[in-house]
Amino acid sequence: MDRLRITGGRRLEGDVAISGAKNAALPIMAATLLAPGVHRLRNVPRLRDTQTFARVLELLGARLSFEGNEMTIDTSQVASVEAPYELVKTMRASIYVLAPLLARFGEARVSLPGGCAWGPRPVNLHLAGLQAMGAKLDIEHGYIVGRGVKLRGATFSFDVVSVGATAQLMLAAVLAEGTAVLENVAIEPDVTALGEALNDCGARIEGLGTRRLTIRGVSALRPIDATIIPDRIEAATFAAAAAMTGGRIRLRGVVPEHFEASLHKLEEAGCAVERGAETVAVAGPPRPAPVNVATQPYPGFPTDMQAQMIAVCALASGTSVIEDTIYLDRFTHVPELARMGARIELRGNVAVVKGVPRLSGAQVMATDLRASASLVIAALAAEGETVIDRIYHLDRGYEALEKKLAALGARVERLS
Ligand code: EPZ
Repeated sequence: MDRLRITGGRRLEGDVAISGAKNAALPIMAATLLAPGVHRLRNVPRLRDTQTFARVLELLGARLSFEGNEMTIDTSQVASVEAPYELVKTMRASIYVLAPLLARFGEARVSLPGGCAWGPRPVNLHLAGLQAMGAKLDIEHGYIVGRGVKLRGATFSFDVVSVGATAQLMLAAVLAEGTAVLENVAIEPDVTALGEALNDCGARIEGLGTRRLTIRGVSALRPIDATIIPDRIEAATFAAAAAMTGGRIRLRGVVPEHFEASLHKLEEAGCAVERGAETVAVAGPPRPAPVNVATQPYPGFPTDMQAQMIAVCALASGTSVIEDTIYLDRFTHVPELARMGARIELRGNVAVVKGVPRLSGAQVMATDLRASASLVIAALAAEGETVIDRIYHLDRGYEALEKKLAALGARVERLS
C-alpha cells in the first residue's frame, strides 16, 4: 500500500491550479444514464472515485473514454440494472445510479452502501423520496430492488438537508410523469451544477440555489455536454496548508464564493486573503489564532473541511472549539494528530483544540479522505519527517496532490 513521506517545516509558496470537483462529477456521471447517447464531460478530476464510478457505468453497459480530464460516456448500449456490492462498498456515491436506472428501465438492483469510517450513513431519505414518487422498493440480500417502477412527480420535504438525497430525487424527477416539488433541499454548488447540467440537456428544474425545487418531468433528455465546476474543498484544503505553513499560495481556476465560509474562518485565524474573479491568494500568519467553528450545510462551514481546520487550530495561539453538526463522529483523524503532538479533547461531536507551538513528524495512518488531508497539512508544518499510511484514501479525492505540493516547495514523496 502506498504511503506518503513528508518532511515538514517549509513555507509553501506559489500558484496551484484547482481540479474539477469530485462531488459534482459523480452525480453528473450518473445523470448520463438518463439519456441514451454520447455524453461529454470536461474538467473531470482523475481520482480513484471517478474511476470507480466509470467502472460502475461500464458494468451497466456504458462505453467510456477518459483522456486527460475529458470523459466521453456512451450510454446507448446500457442494458444491466445492477450495481454490485463489490463496487458500491468502495464508494457510497455509486447509489446515484438508482434513480436513473428506475427512470430509464423501471427497475434497478443496487447494493446498499453500508457504513463508512466514521459510522452509519443512512440512505433512508433517498428511499423515502423515491417511494413518495411511486417507486416500490424492497431490500433483498443487501440490495435495493425496484421492479415495474413508473416514477411520477410528488411533493417531498427533507427532514434533514442531504446532498445525496437531493441529487437522487432530482435525477428521479426530471423524466417522471408530472411535477415534483422538493423542499428543504441541499444547495451545495455540486447540486446546483447537477441541476444546470440537466437543464442544459432539456430538463425543467426551477429554483436552483434555493431550498425549494420545482421539477416538471419531460419525456426525454439530450446527451449531457458539461464542464465540471472547480473543487471548493480541494481549494480550501490548499488554503489551510498556507495557514499551517505560514506560506503564500494563489489558487487558480476557483469560484471564491463556493468556499467563502472556509476563507472567512481562515481570515479569523489570521490569514490574509485576496479574492479575485477566478483566483484566491492566501497568506498564512506566523502562527494561527484560535477560532470556533460549527459545521453546517452550504453555505455554512463544510464538514469536509472540519478535519483540516482542526489541524490548523492544533498550532494556534490558544484554544479552539470545533463542532461537527452533520457527522457527529467524524473524528478519526484526532488520535493521529495527537501522535504528532496535537492536544485535542473530544466531547461528543465537539473537539476542544488546545494549540501547541509546534507539531512533530510521526508515523500516522489515514482513515478517510478528509482525515488524510488533515494529516498531510499537519505534516507540512511539523518538525521532521511524517509517514502517512493508507493514502489510497487521499487518492479518492485529491488529484496529483504530491505533485501540486512539491511545486509549492513541499518535500513530499510517495513510497510505493
Ligand atoms: C455528500 O455526502 C458528500 N459526498 C460528502 O463528502 C459530504 O461530507 C456530505 O455530502 C455533506 O456535505 C458526495 O457528494 C459524494 P448528506 P452525502 O446526504 O450525500 C444524513 C467527501 O469528503 N442523511 O448530505 O452522503 C447524513 O447521515 C465526502 O468528499 C440521512 O439521515 O451526505 C448526514 O448526517 C464525504 N439520511 C446528513 O444527512 C439520508 O438518506 C448529510 O448527509 C441521507 C443523509
